[in-house]
This record gives sequence, structure tokens and C-alpha cells, in this order.
Amino acid sequence: MNILAFEGTAHTASVAIVKKGKIVTNLKHSYTTQQPTGMVPREVAEHHASHLKDLTLQALKQANVSMREIDVLAYSAGPGLGAALQVINSFVTALSIKHNLLLYPIHHSFAHLIVANYIAKAKDPLYIYVSGGNTQLIMLKDNLHPVVYGETEDIALGNALDKLARELGYGFPGGKHIEDAAKKADKFIEMPYTVKGMDLSYAGLVTFASKLKDKETKENIAYGFQEHAFAMLMEVAERALAYTEKEEVVLTGGVALNSRLQEMLKSMAEERGIKYLKLEPQYLGDNAAMIGVAAWHFHLHGIEPLKSEEAFTKPRWRIEKHLEW
Ligand code: ATP
Ligand code: FE2
Repeated sequence: MNILAFEGTAHTASVAIVKKGKIVTNLKHSYTTQQPTGMVPREVAEHHASHLKDLTLQALKQANVSMREIDVLAYSAGPGLGAALQVINSFVTALSIKHNLLLYPIHHSFAHLIVANYIAKAKDPLYIYVSGGNTQLIMLKDNLHPVVYGETEDIALGNALDKLARELGYGFPGGKHIEDAAKKADKFIEMPYTVKGMDLSYAGLVTFASKLKDKETKENIAYGFQEHAFAMLMEVAERALAYTEKEEVVLTGGVALNSRLQEMLKSMAEERGIKYLKLEPQYLGDNAAMIGVAAWHFHLHGIEPLKSEEAFTKPRWRIEKHLEW
């Protein structure tokens, strides 16, 4: 089965081809800003609209596959920016009508998780999902039904990094700017640490760190912020690991690209004697390969795709409800 898959819930437009569960192409183009602004929804939608056709043609060419050889389409139906989701939905619906193909609506967050099973051969891990819109500790019952063990009570870790970056004058996305700045720090600043049971809160930490901008260097603020934010995450992750007795842990989502966070998880996993399964960078941030793999996973589980007229988008969509179409 050849799957042509599309991602575009937030900053990244991506097209991938998955052949019998094997990723053969994964192309992407991301919206970024030089100025300290966040994502402007209209600009993101325009970005995707102007790149989707070229990405699709390139993906088919690179995989040496024609549209006639595609068996099914897959697209990220949510959660995400409404305007961006509409662009993906229109594009994929048009393709499905033109080529008489069915389509799989995929929950973006579920895709961030399940890709680890296929790429890193995870069997039944605890997933630490950290991205622009999400910070969750999750396991999958029967590899299909998400159970959330802990999450942020307010903003996601990626969003917190992006907000702090904006305050410090960096462009979007901000996570990498904060990571690079933190490496040059020469002082540790104490900041608020907020863990409530299995949940976390990052809003107060962002406010606190932002207020330091006239007193401390950007580098020291970035470093202090990362150390506190990541330590909070490790604390709840460790508790979830103890509780679930999982022997594998996966770090996924865009913030998983952070080398300091990876290092902290590596040493925690070593201390606990469990496996930390690492994904290649191209599968951590948003990508269409994960959407294609999720569709393949659905196919293996006997889940039927939709007709073009049944296609939908859900800007707000809890991961526990990812099979409610
Ligand atoms: P979601 O999965 O919640 O919809 P998303 O679609 O916004 O998230 P992802 O690509 O999964 O997108 O994650 C993007 C986030 O990852 C941004 O907040 C960005 O700042 C952050 N990020 C990217 N690289 C790094 C890094 N090196 N260190 C920390 N954060 C990073
Ligand atoms: Fe994402």
C-alpha cells in the first residue's frame, strides 16, 4: 500500500510517501520569522498554500511514484491552527476527488507518538510529548488508545520557550535560540519550579524569566529557564515511569530536538535501567512521514479511510478522542 501523507497543523508544511509502512520520502518547508513575533495564522495558511503543490510534486519524483500508484491519502486533521488546517483539508480533498482516493484523517499528536513504534521500534513505551502546543506524558493501550498520565496545566513547553524567546528579541520558533543562548551562560539563576502531582505549569516561569531581561544576560536567563523547565518535566516523567513500570521511554515533538533535554532524559533512563529510544531529528518536529505511518498503523488495525466528502478538520481535538471522526 502506497500512502501519500500531508502535515500542516502549525508552522510546517510537509509531504511524505510511505510504502507498506516504510518511509520513502519526507519533505518539509517551515514558516519562520526573523522578528520577535509568533505565528500569524493568515501567514501560516498562505505559507502552506504556496508550498504544498511543489512539495507534493517533489515527493512523488523523489520516490519515483506516480499519482496512479498512490492507494490512499492521509492528512493531519487537527489539532492546530484553523486556517492552516483548512488549507491542508482543501488540498487533500481536491486530490482525493481528482484521483478517486479515500483519505485517513490523522490526529497530529497521535502521529507524533506512533511514529516512534515504527522508527525506533518502541513496543510499549512511556511517551514524553513536548511540542509547541503540547506537554504530555502518555502511554498507548493496545498501541491505539492514549492514556494521559500528566500534562501542563497552562501553556506547553514549546510555547513557553517561544514566548520567552520573543521577550528576549529572537524570531520564531524560539526553542533553538534559547538552546543556543543557554550554552553560553556563565551563571545559574534560581527560578520558580511548579509541579503539582503529575501536572506542570510553565506560565509563571515564563513571566518570571521575562521580567529579568533588563537585569540579567539573555544567555543566563535562557539557561536558568531551561534547567528549571526541563527538571520539572523530568520529575513528573520519573514518577510516571515508576507508576507505569514501563521499560522504554520516548521523547517526541519539536522540543525533543533540544540536546540538553535529551541529555537529562538519557541520564535519568540510565539511572532507572530503562531504554531511552531516540528518534532521528527529522521525525521529532512536525513532519508528514508520521502522518503516513499513522495511516499505515490504522490500515493494519482494520480502520477504514473516509470518502472525500467526509473529510473534516478539528482545531481542538483531545488525543483520547483521536478515533472519534
Ligand atoms: P504540536 O505537536 O503541539 O502541534 P507544533 O505543531 O507546534 O506542536 P512541533 O514541530 O512538534 O510543532 O514543535 C515545535 C516546537 O518545538 C516549537 O515551540 C519550537 O520552539 C520547539 N523547538 C524546536 N527546536 C527546539 C530546540 N532545539 N529546543 C527546544 N525547543 C525546540
Ligand atoms: Fe507537532
